[in-house]
Amino acid sequence: MLAVVPPPVTVRVPSKVNLHLSVGDVRDDGFHELTTIFQALSLTDEVTVAASEEPVVEVYGEGAKSVPTDGDNLAMRAVRALAAHVGREDEADKVRVVLRKGIPVAGGMAGGSADAAATLVGLSALWKLEIGREELSHVAATLGSDVPFALYGGTALGTGRGEELVPVLSRHQFHWVLAFDQRGLSTPKVYGELDRLRADGDPPRVGSHAPVVEALSSGDPRQLALLLGNDLQAAAVSLRPGLRRTLRAGVNAGALAGTVSGSGPTCAFVCESAESALEVAAELAGAGVCRTTRVAHGPVPGARVVGGEDAP
Ligand code: C5P
Repeated sequence: MLAVVPPPVTVRVPSKVNLHLSVGDVRDDGFHELTTIFQALSLTDEVTVAASEEPVVEVYGEGAKSVPTDGDNLAMRAVRALAAHVGREDEADKVRVVLRKGIPVAGGMAGGSADAAATLVGLSALWKLEIGREELSHVAATLGSDVPFALYGGTALGTGRGEELVPVLSRHQFHWVLAFDQRGLSTPKVYGELDRLRADGDPPRVGSHAPVVEALSSGDPRQLALLLGNDLQAAAVSLRPGLRRTLRAGVNAGALAGTVSGSGPTCAFVCESAESALEVAAELAGAGVCRTTRVAHGPVPGARVVGGEDAP
């Protein structure tokens, strides 16, 4: 009898920006206690999951060369984690994952986490698993702090390591410009630098997240702009001093405000409108302060199936 090979599944998955990121104490497990507000952005990766004779990861697009294609790849780790969760360990080697990257690698926009989340959704569809998002999000949390958010998307308050999520009402669309840096930054190094800065002195900390929640429900980008805040920014700027110039250049180009996204080095600028974002992106790209720019809007949904291998 011929085995039926299921058709490949393609999943689109968003990047994220942290509108508010408050970093607390280091916990016993080495992670920091966080209070953060994530917004999912229309800058996306596409991940195709297919049946295969052997485990394969292929990576194309933005920063593809710096993504590992061995078992360390977060997508492959996601395959193994889900296979173990449903007791199909012996089939974990029979999956091919193709990543088409739009999200910068090691850019502070949760690109690797997005690929892991997309792989979980793709593999559950490929294997026709009856598994809900909530159960999937428990598997997701074992893969990384930002992986559950990439499953849900939208706008959410994250606590714990960032993996405990509550949706936040966000009216209207916000328009963003993203400035990619020449090279990525290592997330553990940025957290380590923050610990060092805090041991040496008392860098300012962001306040409460409550006003950000209010600004989101009002939908007013000017109000949100006043409240963007990220405790990791000082550490990212300390490791990559040129980011100060990038942040200034975005505001000079007409953005309402800018912030380092997560652990950086991508800078995210909130703009008044889609038109303004296009203008800011063009001006920033020509200012010599970043590698390239993209426009995006948010919030957008989390990882979802968009079709087979050839789907748009
Ligand atoms: O969970 P994830 O793999 O994204 O975390 C990458 C690294 O970032 C961790 O190994 C840790 O050094 C740091 N981190 C942290 N506290 C968090 C999230 C991440 O210290 N809440």
